[in-house]
Amino acid sequence: MQTQTGSLLHQDHMATIESLQNLEEFLGRQRGAPVLDETVKAFLAALGGTLRQEVEKHFGFEENHLFPEFTRRGETGIVMMLTMEHRTILPLALRVADLADAAVAAGAFGEQDWRDFKDAGVELVEREIFHIQKEEMGLLAAISALVDGDTDVRLAQVYRETVG
Ligand SMILES: [Fe+2]
Ligand SMILES: [Fe+2]
Repeated sequence: MQTQTGSLLHQDHMATIESLQNLEEFLGRQRGAPVLDETVKAFLAALGGTLRQEVEKHFGFEENHLFPEFTRRGETGIVMMLTMEHRTILPLALRVADLADAAVAAGAFGEQDWRDFKDAGVELVEREIFHIQKEEMGLLAAISALVDGDTDVRLAQVYRETVG
C-alpha cells in the first residue's frame, strides 16, 4: 500500500533520475568544453534549478519532517545512513548547479570549470541515483509500515507546502 507521502517522494525521485540521466548523456556527448548555444544554456539552467530543488527542499523535507518520524519509532539506522548520503550529495549537487549557472551567465565554461563540472557531475550522477534507488527500495516501504494514516496526511500536506 503506497502512502500519499511515499507517492509524492516517488514522483520527485523519478524527475530527479531523469535530470541525472540527462546530465550523464550530456557529459558523455562532449569532447571538451561545450559551446553554449541556446539549447545547452536552457539545459544547464534547468539542471541547476532541479538540483537545488532536490537537495535543498526534498532533502530538507526528508531530514526535517520525515526522518524524525522514523527516529521517534526507533528506526535510527536507516535515518543515519540516508542522512550521511545527503551530506555527501548536497555539496556535489550545489557545486554542479553553481558551475552550470556561472557558465550560463558567462556564456562559456572556463577550461578548469568544465573539468570540475564534469568530475562533480559524474560523481553526483552515480551517488544520487544510488541514493534514490535505496530510498525507492527501502524508505517508501518503511513509510507504509511505520507511519499511520493521520501522520501520512499531515506529512503530505507539509511536503506540498515546503517542496511544492
Ligand atoms: Fe534522500
Ligand atoms: Fe528522497
